[in-house]
Amino acid sequence: MAAVQPFPVFDERRFEQVIGNSPALESVLEQVERVATTDSTVLVQGETGTGKELIARAIHNISPRCGRSFVKLNCAAIPMDLLESELFGHEKGAFTGAIAQKIGRFELADKGTLFLDEVGDIPAALQPKLLRVLQEQQFERLGSNRTHQVDVRLVAATNRDLTKMAKRGEFRSDLYYRLNVFPVTLPPLRERREDIPVLVAHFVDLYSRRMSKQIEQIPAETLSALSSYSWPGNIRELQNMIERAVILSNDGVLPNPLPKEEARDVTIPPTATTLRDSERNLILNTLESVRWVIGGPKGAAAKLGLKRTTLLHKMQKLGISRPSLESSRYTTTAAP
Ligand SMILES: Nc1ncnc2c1ncn2[C@@H]1O[C@H](COP(=O)(O)OP(=O)(O)OP(=O)(O)O)[C@@H](O)[C@H]1O
Ligand SMILES: [Mg+2]
Repeated sequence: MAAVQPFPVFDERRFEQVIGNSPALESVLEQVERVATTDSTVLVQGETGTGKELIARAIHNISPRCGRSFVKLNCAAIPMDLLESELFGHEKGAFTGAIAQKIGRFELADKGTLFLDEVGDIPAALQPKLLRVLQEQQFERLGSNRTHQVDVRLVAATNRDLTKMAKRGEFRSDLYYRLNVFPVTLPPLRERREDIPVLVAHFVDLYSRRMSKQIEQIPAETLSALSSYSWPGNIRELQNMIERAVILSNDGVLPNPLPKEEARDVTIPPTATTLRDSERNLILNTLESVRWVIGGPKGAAAKLGLKRTTLLHKMQKLGISRPSLESSRYTTTAAP
């Protein structure tokens, strides 16, 4: 692909692993495309398992910094007294136990992207130092007076409500405003249920390959149970549930992995019965939504995250062809 791309572009290379084409997700991806080309700080928010880290990586991968390093630090996973030296590094002897010099994450991410996960967990004592490095791109290693200048693009993520925390005085509001330059909020899965069938198909494909098991059928009851469940753990929970279902599957049929209580209240009528049917429906609906334009940034291939040639191949395999002008909907030839 050429360097100059018309906006927006959702092709295979760019959003490799971000599956789904619900309007809610597409509007997020549009924002991601816009901000990725800049050096601005991005604050990714959303419930657990909604794909915050995936989006942070996508931002780096489609940014001009993609050839440089993507450095990650989970602020909640590091004991408070070590966090400062993780961020800024230290000199040998800076504190008891500092037996050698250490390079911090800001230095490691120079010219690249630093992903600060669970940024809401940064202790109050460290917040001014973080604010300074974000404003001035300057810091000192612990135990040293030498100021280092870096060029780091920050992507921060949190599943806590930073606005509320700032109001309550639990998070510095000046740091909050500095982080909140470009907020991206990932919708919970229950607010984009349209994405469930294609996510199911994606994870079934992933785990069946990994376990060398063939899954040919997703029973309608399984798909409707999965589609109507509330998914408090969002995509991570769905992913784990599909892994379990693939393990439990027999004779190429995907069982319903949800416990009986969860599977009750099925409100969505059974639709697709096989993986092949879901794929065919998804492709047909997408083709119709873009009036059968296949290539280009607004074509069906881009929307589906497929290469043009891959889509054409799939259409041929599934017997999908463009309807003749007289026919009201579409024509499909009988499946071979
Ligand atoms: N749109 C998507 N398409 C495919 N896989 C996805 C998508 N969104 C999330 N995932 C997968 O779901 C899992 C959870 O995503 P991720 O770790 O990015 O979530 P998170 O928001 O950072 O969660 P947490 O708040 O718990 O850290 C990962 O395995 C990720 O690859
Ligand atoms: Mg995460």
